[in-house]
Amino acid sequence: MAFKVSLNVIKLFFIFSSTLIISCQESTEWPNMNQKDYSKPPVGFPPIPFPSDNPYSREKFELGRRLFYEKILVKDSSFKSCSHCMKQAHNFQDNVPNSLGLNKIAEPRNTMSLTNVAYFDKIFWDGRGSRIEQPAYRSLFLPYIFGLDTNELQKRLENHPIYPNLFRAAFGENVKPSAWLVAKAISTFVRCLVSGNSAYDKFLRGDSNALTESQKRGMKLFFSERTKCSVCHSGFLFTDLQFHNTGTTNHYFDFGRFYVTKDYKDRNKFLTPSLRNVEVSAPYMHDGTYKTLEEVIENYNRGGFPNINKDTLIKPLNLTKEEKEDLINFLKALTDWEFLKNPDFAEPK
Ligand code: HEC
Repeated sequence: MAFKVSLNVIKLFFIFSSTLIISCQESTEWPNMNQKDYSKPPVGFPPIPFPSDNPYSREKFELGRRLFYEKILVKDSSFKSCSHCMKQAHNFQDNVPNSLGLNKIAEPRNTMSLTNVAYFDKIFWDGRGSRIEQPAYRSLFLPYIFGLDTNELQKRLENHPIYPNLFRAAFGENVKPSAWLVAKAISTFVRCLVSGNSAYDKFLRGDSNALTESQKRGMKLFFSERTKCSVCHSGFLFTDLQFHNTGTTNHYFDFGRFYVTKDYKDRNKFLTPSLRNVEVSAPYMHDGTYKTLEEVIENYNRGGFPNINKDTLIKPLNLTKEEKEDLINFLKALTDWEFLKNPDFAEPK
């Protein structure tokens, strides 16, 4: 009897463990085809512009997502590739003024967010980039980011138990993993990081209770002639995609847009950042100089520090304590918690 029972237990164990193995294999070997179609934008947003030479597919999204969190893309595998500096909980950017790449070498500027970057026609604080594929490709080889070389990267991916299959599923039967395809897959994932379900968006779609009274007052101030915030932080992205000097600091070590145009009129000007999810993306500005939204508002309120190229829109605002609070509360209404916590954008299990 005891023998029979233990045999059954053993049988059960085998059935159980083999189903476990099968389900594990399913979830790690193949893209999750039931997953939502992230090529569709939130209500009220224009279509996500996928380039014709790198269109969306679910397989590419899933491959890109894995690579985004992949240690083997880093020379010494000491961190998880893109996600090391682009943290979902922090709006796909870093929570320190200067991110640390390979060998803990610091980036000179505060990391910019990847959220909604699909819609940006210029990328980086000085606008020197235009396509996501560019930095996705270059980061693999730059000695202060991932520090790999093409052959090593190819070898690691080809010898990996699941990547060769995932690359074939994403790019075609006769394909082998390569750096360029890594960049294309990561870019597809990144283009799908679209955030448009904040309390403010819900308010725009007709839910008048989505904003608190303070947030409604803050919204009026934000869009007012008096503050002029929305002149630069305009449209559904809350950026005009132009370059301005806002008198952020007393001393600019960084010439910003000037490095691209070599025009003195562009000295110390930076791309207007989007304000979506700004609540979770401290520290702020190109140099990460402000630790809190209170500090940012304080600087706008004093009209910024003097600078020869300071924008004429930046003037002392004489905001009361309550007005400052309202403005900050409105900025918090731009936080899209569903996006920041969406498990489909997190590290795959
Ligand atoms: C003249 C254009 C302009 C106006 C007007 C303007 N901003 Fe900005 N804003 C910018 C630019 C450019 C930056 C980045 C500056 C830098 O890094 O030095 C910025 C940065 C910010 C940041 C930090 C975002 C981040 O992720 O680092 C916040 C918050 C912000 N602005 C809110 C506001 C508010 C609130 C107002 C109105 C009181 C306002 N801005 C008015 C152009 C503008």
